[in-house]
Amino acid sequence: MTTILFATNNQHKVNEIQSAIGRQIDVISLAQAGIDVDIPEPYDTLEGNASEKSRKVHGLTGLNCFGEDTGLEVRALNGEPGVKLARYAGEEKDSYKNLKKLLKKLDGEPDRRARFRAVISLIWKGSEYLFEGVCEGTISYDPRGSGGFGYDPVFIPAGSGKTFAEMDLDEKNKFSHRKRAADKLVLFLKESGF
Ligand code: IMP
Repeated sequence: MTTILFATNNQHKVNEIQSAIGRQIDVISLAQAGIDVDIPEPYDTLEGNASEKSRKVHGLTGLNCFGEDTGLEVRALNGEPGVKLARYAGEEKDSYKNLKKLLKKLDGEPDRRARFRAVISLIWKGSEYLFEGVCEGTISYDPRGSGGFGYDPVFIPAGSGKTFAEMDLDEKNKFSHRKRAADKLVLFLKESGF
C-alpha cells in the first residue's frame, strides 16, 4: 500500500481526502506521522500556501507529501473572504464567527453566487505538481445542517438544494472542490505508476 503524508492538522480535510482517494493510497496526517508543526499560510495565493505546506513538510521528512489550501470567493463581495477564509472574523479562526460575518456582509444582497477553489501541491519523488478543483455555488440566507466543517452550513453547491453541511461525505464528494483536486492527484499518481 502506498502511503502519502498530508501536510495538515485538519482532520476533516484528511477524512475528505481519504474518502476522495479511496483505499488505493493511505493518507496520513501530520499528527498520525508524529509530526508537530504549525504551518503558516503567508501568501495571498492558494498555490503559494499549498506549496509552502508541502515544501516545509518535505523539507522536514524527505517523504512524498502534499499540502492543500482552499479559498472561498463571493461574487458580491469582490472575492472575499478569498484565501484568508479561516481568519475572516479574526485570528482565533472561529468557524461560526466567520460564517456569521459572511452572512452579515451579504444581508439584503440578492446575488449569492460564490465558489470554493482548492489547490493541492504534491511533492512526489522530489518534484512538485499542482492540482486545482473548483466548486461553483451560492451562499444560503441562514446556516443549515450539522455535518462538515467551516463554511459548509452556508454553501450550496450548484446542482443541489442542500448546503454541504446537510450532506454526508459521499454526497459532498459529488460536488466538492477538494474531491475534484484529489481526483487529479490520483490520476497523476496512476499515470506515473505509483
Ligand atoms: P485552509 O486555509 O485551506 O486550511 O482552510 C481554512 C478554513 O477554510 C477552514 O477552517 C474552513 O473554515 C474553510 N474551509 C476550507 N475548506 C472548506 C470546505 O470544504 N468547506 C467549508 N469550509 C472550508
